[in-house]
Amino acid sequence: MAHVRFPEGFHWGTATASYQIEGAWSQDGKGESIWDRFAHTPGTIKNGDTGDVACDHYHRYAEDVALMRELGLTSYRFSIAWPRIQPTGRGPANTKGLDFYRRLVDELLAAGIRPAATLYHWDLPQALEDAGGWPNRDTAGRFADYAEIVMRALGDRVKHWMIFNEPAIFTTMGYLVGIHAPGRRELDAFLRATHTVNLAHGQAFRAMKAHDASTAIGTAFSMSACEPASDTEADRAAAERWHGFVNEWFLMPALRGRYPDAFRDGPRLAEMDVREGELEAVRAPLDFIGINLYTRTRIEAADDDWGLGARPAGLTGWGDGPRTDFGWEIWPDALYAMVKRVTEDYDRPVIEITENGCSYADGPDETGAIDDARRIAFYRDYLQALSRAIAEGADVRGYHAWTLIDNFEWAEGFAQRFGLVHVDFETQKRTPKASAHWFAEVAAKNGFET
Ligand code: FCB
Repeated sequence: MAHVRFPEGFHWGTATASYQIEGAWSQDGKGESIWDRFAHTPGTIKNGDTGDVACDHYHRYAEDVALMRELGLTSYRFSIAWPRIQPTGRGPANTKGLDFYRRLVDELLAAGIRPAATLYHWDLPQALEDAGGWPNRDTAGRFADYAEIVMRALGDRVKHWMIFNEPAIFTTMGYLVGIHAPGRRELDAFLRATHTVNLAHGQAFRAMKAHDASTAIGTAFSMSACEPASDTEADRAAAERWHGFVNEWFLMPALRGRYPDAFRDGPRLAEMDVREGELEAVRAPLDFIGINLYTRTRIEAADDDWGLGARPAGLTGWGDGPRTDFGWEIWPDALYAMVKRVTEDYDRPVIEITENGCSYADGPDETGAIDDARRIAFYRDYLQALSRAIAEGADVRGYHAWTLIDNFEWAEGFAQRFGLVHVDFETQKRTPKASAHWFAEVAAKNGFET
């Protein structure tokens, strides 16, 4: 038997995102987002699902906060929908939009739960996409204005912020691969988008710190431990380039003021429209690094269309480990490896695990109970891997399970269930799964026995 223990004061929480849970897509003055437009376009989302209603969290937030309180959670990572605050992405704030988040935050504070807010979890105001979206460098200034508005309104009660959620994913999936909003497939636009996002990151960081220097600011980066598919020199070099591209494209500019060496034939700064002085402007000395991690990626050297000279082996990069119902490989060691690597490469920064979790379809049995033993095993193994990294010196301060309640999983619609709490999408009934009770016990004991 092993005792797995976490440092004193460790935060145990869950993470969610506005479009995935809120619903109320056009209520109280909210503007259209790129996800509203995308999901309303036939053929984009499995089963024609949309986030129009989702988990109706906009109206049921108090019930959802009560659930977290009952589970004894101490942190809640949620995101703010930009088009609720600025319906067209510019101009004065929509008070009703801000009021919703004020109510939510007050409810959290009253329940003793730390609010941890993400400014951008992918729902760009559609009007800004119509003006060119993230490939248009003006979007950076719009974003910094929005950051300042939110900070002024909520900065007195929210002291823990994430600027972006997974910049690598929303730029790649939205502008390069096109299976997420806004559904574009343009290498040039994608490259420019990444630089605009980095500029926005730096600008928003400075605007927020100018308002309150003591507030803690990070970003939730998507990360996947990259392993060479074989031991050849070519595959090892390819895995390093891929690591630069998927794990550090936004982190390194923020912390080091430069882009990783990800492209085989050298940097592509001209195509990205990087101008004089902008490698300083992208700097954002974050107070903590948020890591969203689900799995590993095995990489092989290859001639690809993007110029990386690398690709995931077997298309997905997954190996022969067990899979979740979504088909993602379960590889707990990826969390250990990634936390160790960030710790070593970035001088032992403060880290929070901002997302980690798994999709399993388990629903209620005849008695109404949901026995999702596979999810418990997933969390147990990943948490054990995390605790090893901490024991070896990583400064990890919190862990957020993705996710609190089953919700709208982007292109998959409602087909993937990642929640600790089951949602019946007909009735909106919430039922904690066995994993929710297990997670609550881990939070209460700040650890577990295996
Ligand atoms: C991450 C996203 C999150 C959720 C999980 C499963 O990439 O940040 O919104 O969809 O994957």
